[in-house]
Amino acid sequence: MAEVTMDKIVSLCKRRGFIFQSSEIYGGLNGAYDYGPLGVQLKNNIRDFWWKEMTQLHDNIVGIDASILMASKVWEASGHVSNFSDPMVDCKECKSRFRADQIDLNSPCPVCGNRDSFTEPKNFNLMFETHIGAKSDASSTVYLRPETAQGIYVNFKNVVASSRVKVPFGIAQIGKSFRNEITTKNFIFRSCEFEQMEMQFFVKPGEDEKWFPYWREQRMAFYDKMGIRKDSLKWHQHGSDELAFYAKDAYDIQFLFPMGWQELEGVHSRTDYDLKQHTKFCGKKQEYLDPVTNERYIPYVVETSAGLTRNVLMALCDAYEEEDIDGDKRTVLHFHPSIAPIEVAILPLVKKDGIADMAKDLERELRSEFSTFYDQSGAIGRRYRRMDEIGTPYCITLDYDTKENDTVTLRFRDSMEQVRVHKNELISTIKEATKNYKRK
Ligand code: GAP
Repeated sequence: MAEVTMDKIVSLCKRRGFIFQSSEIYGGLNGAYDYGPLGVQLKNNIRDFWWKEMTQLHDNIVGIDASILMASKVWEASGHVSNFSDPMVDCKECKSRFRADQIDLNSPCPVCGNRDSFTEPKNFNLMFETHIGAKSDASSTVYLRPETAQGIYVNFKNVVASSRVKVPFGIAQIGKSFRNEITTKNFIFRSCEFEQMEMQFFVKPGEDEKWFPYWREQRMAFYDKMGIRKDSLKWHQHGSDELAFYAKDAYDIQFLFPMGWQELEGVHSRTDYDLKQHTKFCGKKQEYLDPVTNERYIPYVVETSAGLTRNVLMALCDAYEEEDIDGDKRTVLHFHPSIAPIEVAILPLVKKDGIADMAKDLERELRSEFSTFYDQSGAIGRRYRRMDEIGTPYCITLDYDTKENDTVTLRFRDSMEQVRVHKNELISTIKEATKNYKRK
């Protein structure tokens, strides 16, 4: 099987309208990306899949959507103002900046080749700073949030007071986060503007020992449901040198990206660190009153924190395959049908004799059930290949027999198998196939 490289993924994404470099016509902006017609659909599908998993399929999880700009005290309390930094060095010669922990400081500068030319490591805060209002001084400083989690913590009391939730319960949120990342290579893997899908699960102190393994298991099972191959995922427990400043224990789900095993999602045991910090900084107790026992306590938190945009890259890399079919190359994205940007393509075999019109009618009929695409141009083999390359799991062709007996041909992307189905049974056949979908 041909190797999956990042270059191939980047090229497919541009060619087929998944992802483009931001501001490309001006030479591009580092660390920022635009999602094209298929990319935004794929991203939205993964987002919806996660949202449904958390807020619909799990007990006791509610959602919120907090603002990106928050009081700067939030980030003082959370520790991000003082701790959220990377050690950086500059090349004294060419002024290029590197993460001190990612290069060998005894080697020449990788950009200009100069020897012994690095400055002493200096901490560089990753938060983007801006100002609210007309004045731009310290009193107007605000930050673009570097994680969505804090929007959840600062609304803990609001949610408890308004939603009848009882510990243990979770608050889920999906949204943009921003980090001034210096090393932004590997496409959308690490960007300055990205999206996160985070859930903070509030439990009674001590019960985190039970919920932490529970959520690890749940999160790995989620990727299985999403159709990601088991062999492409593994766990990595943080060593004491890797633990974030807020974490008691942490595990990453890693995915085998083209550049190697890398973090996809973190599951963190955050104790009562954040709610305690906010209590200290805002002066209001962020505690929970148990309605049965009347006990008051600050809950412990188990956090699941996934990158949505990193999930998009993972889904593309995991799905990508180049097959050799009788000497012909077939590029195919094996997306799970639930996240495929287009689920069903409708392709009339001939345009004349009313067959194209029948196909258009069928497409309109299927629209309310599936995301569809109509294509009548080119040889059928080429149309199939175009759909394979963007990961469309089902193609329907109509021909003269359709006029006679209302049957169509349903083709499955992965096996390329074709079956004849009555039009009345199409929706149920496709839904059943999606329910039973298993990646080879
Ligand atoms: N609230 C905890 C938190 O933010 P994190 O490990 O820093 O934890 C969680 O980030 C996830 O967010 C990562 O596993 C990754 O998927 C995603 N992520 C973090 N930084 C990113 C970046 N610069 N670009 C894209 N995704 C990123």
